[in-house]
Amino acid sequence: MAIDGHSSCGKSTMAKSLAAKVGYIYVDTGAMYRAVTLFAMRQGLFDAQGQPDAARLEALVPQIEVSFRLDPATHLPLVCLNGEVVEEAVRTLEVSSHVSAIAALPFVREALTRQQQRMGEEKGIVMDGRDIGTVVFPQAELKVFVTASAEVRAQRRYLELTAKGQSVAFEDILRNVQERDYIDSHRELAPLRQADDALVLDNSELTREEQMQWLLDRFEERTGASASCN
Ligand code: DC
Repeated sequence: MAIDGHSSCGKSTMAKSLAAKVGYIYVDTGAMYRAVTLFAMRQGLFDAQGQPDAARLEALVPQIEVSFRLDPATHLPLVCLNGEVVEEAVRTLEVSSHVSAIAALPFVREALTRQQQRMGEEKGIVMDGRDIGTVVFPQAELKVFVTASAEVRAQRRYLELTAKGQSVAFEDILRNVQERDYIDSHRELAPLRQADDALVLDNSELTREEQMQWLLDRFEERTGASASCN
């Protein structure tokens, strides 16, 4: 199942709950791009303008291993960089501000797309990202394109980060959301766009429960399977 859409529109929360309800494995592809970004930051590969040294990063690709490990308490996947759990470290505003430039690099996209396709070979996966329904799994049984207004998304991310104790300004987050929308939708390779056969879910005005019901109804329609016994 492919869940694509704009940043900070609650895709991952939604995809996680859906996967748990229908007994599928959840894969957060944004976390994979974030882990590569964290690697590049730690290696000092960004210049003062926030541009990565692509040639040096490409040479270091064999040294980057992105994987997932299940959290024993929540049973949710935690993203790992070279064996270290970096689930928290990849969610900072600093990583968010650098990730679009990394996600635009062809060799990064090729490597992660291949890895994602291998993960989906056995099916039974809910994958969230930007290009899952268009590039990674064009044959997905259900494709959902999620969106909400930039202000609503920035407000959600602001509450999420301040709840974790991070000191951030709403305006910076709104700017980051708008910049990422622009870069993600205008990059040459695998830009964020709605697949022709995707169902659109604008959740600006929906509660989590309403969204989940909508998703479960679509899942049942597409697969003929009911999630009620899971
Ligand atoms: O979903 P997220 O905000 O954690 O994603 C982080 C960044 O990674 C986002 O700016 C776009 C990029 N991304 C991508 O280009 N392709 C994906 N499949 C997933 C994320």
